[in-house]
Parts: sequence; C-alpha cells; structure tokens
Amino acid sequence: MKILIINGPNLNLLGAREPDIYGAVTFEDYFTQLQFRFKALELSYFQSNHEGELIDKLQEVQENFQGVVLNAAAYTHTSIAIADTVKAIKIPVVEVHISNIYTREDFRKHSYIAPYTKGVIVGFGLEGYALAIQSFNS
Ligand code: DQA
Repeated sequence: MKILIINGPNLNLLGAREPDIYGAVTFEDYFTQLQFRFKALELSYFQSNHEGELIDKLQEVQENFQGVVLNAAAYTHTSIAIADTVKAIKIPVVEVHISNIYTREDFRKHSYIAPYTKGVIVGFGLEGYALAIQSFNS
C-alpha cells in the first residue's frame, strides 16, 4: 500500500518553529522513523508553502496512492480550494493536526477540509501521522 503525507505551509520549520507547540523534532527525522515503523507500506512525503502546489499534488496522487495524510496547516482554516480538491479526488484523505486546534485561537477551530475526509486526528503531536497511517492499514 502506498501512502502520501502532504504537509502545508510552515511545516518545513518543524523542530525549530514554536517547539512548545509543535515539538523539537524535524519532520524529516520523524519521517525516517515512520518508514522504519511501517516497513510493509510505501510512504512518501511532500511539503509546500504554496496552496496551488498542494492542490496540484492532491490531484496528481489519485493514480499512484491508496491514501493521503494531509496537514494543510493554516490553509485548513482558509482554503475552500483545497477542500474542493479533497472532495473531488477519489482516494481517502485523513486530516492531521499536530497541536490541539480546539484549545487554541478561535480561527483554528474551523476546518474547510474536514467534512470531505475519512477522519481527523488532532492534538497528539507528530504521533498523529502514525495514527493516520494506521487507519489506512487496518
Ligand atoms: C497545524 C495547526 C494550524 O492551525 C497551524 O496553522 C499549523 C499547524 C497543526 O499541525 O497543529 O500550521 O495544522
């Protein structure tokens, strides 16, 4: 099974960005751990700070992957365009947030994307990505 993890804006800064909220581990290091833990799966990773690039990637993956783990970061709360893409594509998408968006500012409490996902995992730190992968694997 092939699973693609897509991270949105500023998630390239993980490890350095607000470590009290997002932790001190880079996503690259965590991704290496994920590959080790889920050896039976083929995991890929894509990050972009640009809305259109995230949309292009989501459209592209249909043929090649069985599932997508998506942390659209701030675009979660603003992007009707990404929500439309998740609605349009045929492969299941699990939405992940590292932090608990429901305990933070009000503007983080709404996701345009969530209604079109298989499910949402929120507030478990980077481990949320592993939980999302497990949801495809069971
Ligand atoms: C985030 C939460 C978003 O509100 C924020 O804009 C992010 C990261 C998370 O993983 O907790 O960049 O998606």
